[in-house]
Amino acid sequence: MTDTALSPTETVHVDLGDRAYDVQIGRGLIDQAGARITALFGRRRMAIVTDDTVAGLHLARLQAALAQAGIQAEALVLPAGEATKSWDRLGQTVEWLLAQRIERKDLVIAFGGGVIGDLVGFAAAILRRGVRFVQIPTTLLAQVDSSVGGKTGINSPQGKNLIGAFHQPALVLADIDVLDTLTPRDFRAGYGEVAKYGLLGDDRFFEWLEGNAAGLASDPARRAQAVRHSVAMKAGIVQRDETEQGERALLNLGHTFGHVLESATGYSDRLLHGEGVAIGCTRPLTSSARMGLCSRGDPRGSRRISRHGPADAHRRHSRRPARRSGADRPDGAG
Ligand code: GLY
Repeated sequence: MTDTALSPTETVHVDLGDRAYDVQIGRGLIDQAGARITALFGRRRMAIVTDDTVAGLHLARLQAALAQAGIQAEALVLPAGEATKSWDRLGQTVEWLLAQRIERKDLVIAFGGGVIGDLVGFAAAILRRGVRFVQIPTTLLAQVDSSVGGKTGINSPQGKNLIGAFHQPALVLADIDVLDTLTPRDFRAGYGEVAKYGLLGDDRFFEWLEGNAAGLASDPARRAQAVRHSVAMKAGIVQRDETEQGERALLNLGHTFGHVLESATGYSDRLLHGEGVAIGCTRPLTSSARMGLCSRGDPRGSRRISRHGPADAHRRHSRRPARRSGADRPDGAG
């Protein structure tokens, strides 16, 4: 496929000097992955790491797209779910990448949601002291948050994301069509992270979400806009504070309580990460309101997000809370 045959995308540039990269957002990007990746990096060895859910739905298409560009990429398929962010799976991934003879000039492709992105990014960070990797996020949560910004890692029995590295991807391809295959629950969990951006001081985005949340699941244009806006906000924060010395901690809104809840439910399907974040957003807002720190706020709006997700969010008319009062403490957030 030539460049001219590529579908239009919106591109958010993450300007981090020699670690800068683009986030390309659009439709049908998986089918164009080979052309898009080789246009930037040439034809080189690549290896894909994914999970069994994504493999069943999309892996053959990705491999076909790479083959069209002359790349035969093998795939390691790991179990889906938070438990995969472990030392054992990290070791398995690194050993497999070594067996695939992935060198520093080659590319690792993280093809999945936040779990795969975090695990594979960390594997790429430590493999041969750092190999480049491409994020192809397949969930709303990963597209708007975890695939961008270079936080990679695994969980420890002592807490979530406590072992990891900052390792920026070389490219992010966010194919919004792939979100069609998400379950309503997974889509809603991702919406917890989208709403988070609205709560971080962007009144217009929050108001736009109130009017458009119900259509996100079905309308590609609105979906692309939500992803683009979230990624642009995140890129701005990451550019100013890549390693979370200050401002980036705002992105942890909802994560402190969320992580406790995830830990209490054993990092299992009982509570998805985005659900934890959505619930976690309500706690500091409620406390802030009680302490009189949430002067403009009405935490009810946030509680509705966690209960119902975008399907009900459009019925909200509450005012958004004051800008920073509810931000969580900086921790190992996801
Ligand atoms: N997900 C929070 C961050 O990337 O900082």
